[in-house]
Amino acid sequence: MTSPTLILGLETSCDETAAAVVRREADGSGRLLSNQVRSQVKDHAPFGGVVPEIAARAHIEHLDDLIKRAMDEAGVTYADLDGVAATAGPGLLGGLLVGLMEGKAIALAEHIPFLAINHLEGHALTPRLLEDCKFPYLLLLISGGHTQFQAVEGIGQYKRLGTTIDDALGEAFDKVAKLCGLAYPGGPQVEIAARHGNPTRFDFPRPLKGRADCNFSFSGLKTAVREAVRDMGLLTEQDIADVCASFEAAIADTVADRLKHAFAQFREMHDLPEPLLVVAGGVAANKKLRAVFESECTKHGFSLRVPPFDLCTDNAAMIAWAGAERLALGLTDDLDFAAKPRWPLDTVSLPVYGEGRLGAKA
Ligand code: KG4
Ligand code: ZN
Repeated sequence: MTSPTLILGLETSCDETAAAVVRREADGSGRLLSNQVRSQVKDHAPFGGVVPEIAARAHIEHLDDLIKRAMDEAGVTYADLDGVAATAGPGLLGGLLVGLMEGKAIALAEHIPFLAINHLEGHALTPRLLEDCKFPYLLLLISGGHTQFQAVEGIGQYKRLGTTIDDALGEAFDKVAKLCGLAYPGGPQVEIAARHGNPTRFDFPRPLKGRADCNFSFSGLKTAVREAVRDMGLLTEQDIADVCASFEAAIADTVADRLKHAFAQFREMHDLPEPLLVVAGGVAANKKLRAVFESECTKHGFSLRVPPFDLCTDNAAMIAWAGAERLALGLTDDLDFAAKPRWPLDTVSLPVYGEGRLGAKA
């Protein structure tokens, strides 16, 4: 398709309810016209994690209003839309159904194409909404539910280079925060506490460091933190700061090592003069990790792109944009497209050890 298109996107796969409108110009460039997100953090905070039933109900309650606000902010009407895109997976089934049904209803009523989007493809294509970003590039996705390296080779063309064999990175931050008695979601709290801590007080393990692949594992590190906390008994503020700083240091070392292997694998696949690393997901906000991305990219001759924080975390702009990219290739979906709580981005990658557990919560 060569003419400009206007797409409404809906995101309801986890604990953010979101609606956004993007425009894809005839030359393939993108414009973000609106981006409405309602975080459910307050709804789930008393439980220390996402409660699926509460999430689904909150999506039902707020999605209509967010769509209205997104359409108003963009200054468009339903009649202006060329398509509607909704996250179809991976994620929590109840939430996925809310966004999918809403998206399908709008498509049916307006006689416009429906696009069922893989949430991970949304993250993977986000940099192309913001600027010219040619395929292929290396993606590191680090959020509360996902931790993986992907070679992004085209729309619908992904090769997973590495993933976690147990917890996601954001999940590890959240669990360490919980062990230290910090609030949910824990990542930002760990980062704040770590600022005044001693990163060398605890010699936490660097999981899988040196192994000749780019997979991750965080359960051993988490256990080491749990044992250190247990041994101290009552924690002082300084103890918490030191645990958080030492944990962050272990993560930073591990990520630097895994990046080195991912860079080498990507270079073997693609001989490019200036390869690109894109980092997405909530954990990309962490300043210590950002410094690692910058120094490792400089060291290994990669350029780096980290989308702004509100497009790194879950949002509907990335879903609308993935829809626009797919519509341009004629990749529309039927209205009986079923939600897929498990939906790997790549269908050809070899399973990694322990993937049964990972898959259960993808
Ligand atoms: O991408 P995201 O908003 O949602 C999904 O999980 O899909 O990521 C949320 C995760 C949480 O685990 C949160 O603790 C972590 O990102 N996070 C951080 C920081 N900000 C958010 N982790 C470390 N440092 C941060 N500054
Ligand atoms: Zn996400």
